[in-house]
Amino acid sequence: MPDIPAPPQRRWRAWLADAARATLVAGLCWMGWDLAMAQQVSTSATTSSASINTSTATSAASLFATHCASCHGAQRTGSMGPALLPESLARLPATEALRVIAQGRTATQMPGFAGTLSPAEIQTLSAYIRTPVVPAPRWTDDDIRASREFHPAPPDEPATPLWQADPMNLFVVVEGGDHHVSLLDGDRLEVITRFASRFALHGGPKFSPDGRYVYFGSRDGWITKYDLYRLRVVAEVRAGLNMRNVAVSGDGRWVIAANYLPHALALFDSDLQLVHTYDARTLDGKGSSRVSAVYDAAPRKSFVVALKDIAEIWEISYDPQAAPIHDGLVHDYKMGEAIAKPGYLGVRRTPLDEPLDDFFFDQSYRHVLGATRPKTAAPASAQDGKTGLGPATAQVVNLDVRRKIADLPIAGMPHLGSGITFAWQGTTVLASPNLQGGSIDVIDMKTWKPVASIPTPGPGFFMRSHEKTPYAWTDSMMSATAKDTLTIIDKATLQPVATVREPGKTLAHIEFTRDGRLALASVWEMQGALIVYDAATFKEIKRLPMSKPVGKYNVWNKITRSEGTSH
Ligand code: HEC
Repeated sequence: MPDIPAPPQRRWRAWLADAARATLVAGLCWMGWDLAMAQQVSTSATTSSASINTSTATSAASLFATHCASCHGAQRTGSMGPALLPESLARLPATEALRVIAQGRTATQMPGFAGTLSPAEIQTLSAYIRTPVVPAPRWTDDDIRASREFHPAPPDEPATPLWQADPMNLFVVVEGGDHHVSLLDGDRLEVITRFASRFALHGGPKFSPDGRYVYFGSRDGWITKYDLYRLRVVAEVRAGLNMRNVAVSGDGRWVIAANYLPHALALFDSDLQLVHTYDARTLDGKGSSRVSAVYDAAPRKSFVVALKDIAEIWEISYDPQAAPIHDGLVHDYKMGEAIAKPGYLGVRRTPLDEPLDDFFFDQSYRHVLGATRPKTAAPASAQDGKTGLGPATAQVVNLDVRRKIADLPIAGMPHLGSGITFAWQGTTVLASPNLQGGSIDVIDMKTWKPVASIPTPGPGFFMRSHEKTPYAWTDSMMSATAKDTLTIIDKATLQPVATVREPGKTLAHIEFTRDGRLALASVWEMQGALIVYDAATFKEIKRLPMSKPVGKYNVWNKITRSEGTSH
């Protein structure tokens, strides 16, 4: 068997750079990020797949069936190995896919095929897995139900934790590097347990209101319910083939999943039994959409849904008293304005001018602050904010009157999904990182007018604070030169007061302990770490090695919807 010829040195460097970028992007997309780089990658993927002609397509299919289907599924929807669909691979650069197929992934079951397949065959397969499966793979309600596994508690199982720690000061740390989760005692700063997760968790885990259970969503559509007290998986279900995130209702009764594939939401009870699926379609049934995200709006007793391809926001109420829905009042009156649909678990639509990609609630949950992304991207580098995208627009939508009430005066590309709010000079302000240019935008939430633009060394992705600390922390992880720097901002003066650095590494994603006294940040590398800082002196207190800890979630801050954290 011919070996793959060693690429010239320059190629290798490019491959490695791409691989590093892929790792970063995979981590970000797990947080719900979906921007320029992703679009670039999928554009190049389309170009290469378009060049497959019919005969190679046949041989690609048979190569796949022979060498790959046993692990990745005959339909490429995943099995022991992850799904290999255009949707799942959107952020995996073509060079990284080639590298993985040729060399495999160390310490995983993915074998290298350089000794079995020719370079041309590897090329063919790498292009093939970017093409849509025809006919499109389906994932029906029956498939969802059949995928469910449930492990009931033994009848005599006590409802007490297996560990001794403050159950409200636990951290769930998602380690994207080797697909594990660590449970951290936030007082002793020690790992209680570490367990394997599904491949590529996505969108942030969500807690039950009492903090006992945590729900994880994975890229390939799996939801896992895990008992933090008894340290075991309670239930698992595959909600879709490609999923964005999950939300848990404020009353703990419902779990809902947002899917790219199929274009649908799936609603479950708290033990992950399917209750209903919602097709993401326009009212007339003609347009369908990927579902970008779903969030719980607990004070409204509803889920709010962002759609990628339809200019609407949806609200699904889980309040049995919810008012009936009159779709005709919002849309064209000819479409049956007089026919009311039940409000409980029904879809209430708010029409928009443009789809909202990502959003943020104000503390009252009356307003959604969303960013609109331009649809087409000029190819350019995303480093230091030069994404090549046109201007994004940010807007405020009032969920009660169901329309846009203001434009937000933010230039560039605000990352509202990571926004935080806090009291400032008698009003409440929103502070949001900006993916374009190094600054934090601060907006008065009464007037929706800008208050300040706080300079940072480079564009950032996350921003966090806590009610009990005077500071907000943000990263500059989108910058090639300042990705290793966290900037600490005084919430009273809106001035940067300090930085902490981890030279040459990516330092990002901050979360506070329940009491706000410690700030935990991630060294976002395969051989990474969690760094614990004193939130008042900014001194490092402890460092725990972790495999690319892409996110960490404090039970108390999450279940109380702390104003310093996103949702
Ligand atoms: C023995 C099982 C097995 C076989 C056979 C196998 N894979 Fe994999 N593959 C895996 C596993 C497991 C992973 C996930 C590795 C990880 O944890 O990063 C994976 C990952 C991948 C990835 C990276 C996906 C991503 O999102 O990062 C690609 C691409 C891939 N495989 C392609 C192929 C192709 C093409 C073939 C056939 C030539 C193949 N694999 C055969 C198990 C397998």
